Amino acid sequence: MKFFIDTANLAQIKEAHDLGVLDGVTTNPSLMAKEGITGEANVINHYKAICDIVDGDVSAEVIATDYENIIKEGEALAALDSKIVVKVPMIKDGIKAIRYFSNKGIKTNCTLVFSSGQALLAAKAGATYVSPFIGRLDDISVDGLGLIEEIRLIYDNYDFPTQILAASVRHTAHLLGCAEIGADVMTGPLSVILALLKHPLTDSGLAQFLADHAKAAGK
Ligand code: G3P
Repeated sequence: MKFFIDTANLAQIKEAHDLGVLDGVTTNPSLMAKEGITGEANVINHYKAICDIVDGDVSAEVIATDYENIIKEGEALAALDSKIVVKVPMIKDGIKAIRYFSNKGIKTNCTLVFSSGQALLAAKAGATYVSPFIGRLDDISVDGLGLIEEIRLIYDNYDFPTQILAASVRHTAHLLGCAEIGADVMTGPLSVILALLKHPLTDSGLAQFLADHAKAAGK
């Protein structure tokens, strides 16, 4: 399972990269705005800075919602770095654009996916990744992990190469549920990745080992 970090914060991306477990980055317009990144030149420079840190794929989202401008924006983003994946919303013009990008060998991430029907359409259009937002489904009392299961079954039935990128991951139970189901990728905040480290028996066990060592050494 690949671990992506869902942020535009360079310090957090670097921390996850330095941990040695980072496979890629996802961003969206809200995450870019949260870092105060506005204006075309700043946005472009920020994507370049992210690509300089990570070794894997970096999702950069288009703002346009009409076919011609999605293509224009997406091609410009893809030209920045071979790591760039053009993130396109699940709308009619978005699906047409994903087919165009796929035919041209440009990687895509179909975002804002909330149903298995949408995921099937994204795979048919040739998306590299599909992003079901599991946390936002849970927020409205719909089973987010259940959607990952449905998509996994459909994609496996037909050997679709589109990778399931579980997004809107909020906690370790989401991450581990995705791993059990077989999502190809999960994207979440750094805190969720770091939370995997934690167990109270690890903390108490280590404290005991260190105390025993100090005692034996006569400290
Ligand atoms: O990047 C898309 C997705 O991961 C958003 O997550 O927490 O805003 O629902 P969230």
